[in-house]
Amino acid sequence: MRERLLEGCAAIVTGGSSGIGAGICRAFAREGAKVAINYLSAPAAAEAMAGEIRAAGGEAIAVVADVANESQVAAMFDATEKAFGRIDIVVANAGIQSDAPLETMELSQWNAVIAANLTGQFLCAREAARRFLAQPAGPSPARGKVICMSSVHEVIPWAGHVNYTASKGGVHMMMRSLAQELAPKGIRVNAIAPGAIRTPINRSAWSTPEAAAKLMELIPYGRIGEPEDIARAAVWLASDESDYVTGATLFVDGGMSLYPGFAGNG
Ligand code: BGC
Repeated sequence: MRERLLEGCAAIVTGGSSGIGAGICRAFAREGAKVAINYLSAPAAAEAMAGEIRAAGGEAIAVVADVANESQVAAMFDATEKAFGRIDIVVANAGIQSDAPLETMELSQWNAVIAANLTGQFLCAREAARRFLAQPAGPSPARGKVICMSSVHEVIPWAGHVNYTASKGGVHMMMRSLAQELAPKGIRVNAIAPGAIRTPINRSAWSTPEAAAKLMELIPYGRIGEPEDIARAAVWLASDESDYVTGATLFVDGGMSLYPGFAGNG
């Protein structure tokens, strides 16, 4: 086994400048991967993280792209190949929420969330497959690895978030279909379904004591997740330790998807 789990691998992490993506970039770099930190609107944060990784002896670049834009996605892959020579791992992590009750949800809110969370993952997975198949074999038995960022809301309905749940439900079947299609070509495709993780996307759910107490009713394990909890799962799915795993969704949620309301009820 390699000394570090991702030694010699090059990775793209979309939405890498904050939240779960930032945690994954740091963990990948610690495990020896070269990391392309994708961002859309936070160049300073992405550049700062690239600097942090380089200062620790790693290799990193910050690369802008709107994941829902076909040519920007291709340009992001070009920039990564130019910097690192190849691409072995793509984490399709970038995602947004734009919440509203159904009656007032604008079509633009629906479209924006589907574009970023579902179409964005499709474009990144498609580009990943193209590049994985076009390059010589790399350091892993797999020709390449795609990790889709899903959510517990690929299975848990969520009133007031229909655009988000629809996007993550879509990610679930997209990931499984891609895994089936790409396994014969040596490409592994898996997903992580995080529960409530302490990041900016759900600040209102944890930033006050009242909200945090209410949130705990949904988490049997009794604590909110941290980006590092997801990052460790991503390292494993990206590494050869999971070489026989494809088409899987790994729930990393402290039990949120176990219908905690049924404990002592029903
Ligand atoms: C959402 C968060 C939410 C969590 C658990 C995530 O997918 O982005 O806002 O806290 O699911 O409900």
